[in-house]
Amino acid sequence: MTLQRVDYDDHQHRVYAKARVIGADMLSRWMEVFAETLPAARPLALLDLGSGTGRFSPALADSFGGPVYGVEPSAGMRAVAQADSAHPAVTYLEGEAAAIPLEDASIDGVLMFLSFHHVQDKPAAVREIARVLRPGGRVLLRQVFSDRPPPTWYNAYFPRLDAIQASMFPTLSETLELFGAAGFRQLDYQQIEERYSDTEEEAIERLRLRGISTFDHLTEDEITSGFARMDADRAAGRLHPPLMGRSDLLVLGR
Ligand SMILES: C[S@@+](CC[C@H](N)C(=O)[O-])C[C@H]1O[C@@H](n2cnc3c(N)ncnc32)[C@H](O)[C@@H]1O
Repeated sequence: MTLQRVDYDDHQHRVYAKARVIGADMLSRWMEVFAETLPAARPLALLDLGSGTGRFSPALADSFGGPVYGVEPSAGMRAVAQADSAHPAVTYLEGEAAAIPLEDASIDGVLMFLSFHHVQDKPAAVREIARVLRPGGRVLLRQVFSDRPPPTWYNAYFPRLDAIQASMFPTLSETLELFGAAGFRQLDYQQIEERYSDTEEEAIERLRLRGISTFDHLTEDEITSGFARMDADRAAGRLHPPLMGRSDLLVLGR
């Protein structure tokens, strides 16, 4: 299946921050996880590549000292980041992974949180990441890999989502091969238990906002009938969405 590029300037920028809000506890947990693999020195200059609405950029600056550069191609996502996630040590920049607007060897760590699969020219992106990273720098890829998808409770209601995920996300070995071409190797692979919602109701309401890009590849009919089946199951007491889910993090270095 060939999928069109997801354009975050279409509707995602209007719903993403609300649909994907991350709690303070989970944000600190991610910072602890990142601290385990980033260089030990402080401060660290970090690149949040595909920074979206800036969910992580301010916390990265607070935890690692800054500066943090949030590079993001979508003007709509960047506008939300500027408005809601401003921080004195964070600069949001127009750019994309295959054209990073930063100097050579200026960055200690690159975070790509659910953005690598959106990059059209992945070999060019890997070369750019290699160019901006200092020796000893790390790449943190929070990613879904199509050969090890986490269980996704709502896929049962939208039957094409399994196939969409399979073609949207790279496999782990494809990813390692892409990064291997620039001399990167796997340093770590972690599976984090992530809290997505505080209540079952909230999990459903967030999903309804469609802040998940795989939904952009479904038809309106598929979406309407999927939510109708979900609502019927919920009303009948047959649906109890999990509040936690598995998030995979691949750490690379040279
Ligand atoms: C699922 S969102 C993740 C945003 C943010 N990292 C987070 O976790 O909240 C994916 C982001 O990747 C961005 N993106 C798409 N193509 C990209 C590219 N070529 N380089 C960098 N980011 C890209 C999208 O515009 C979008 O903001």
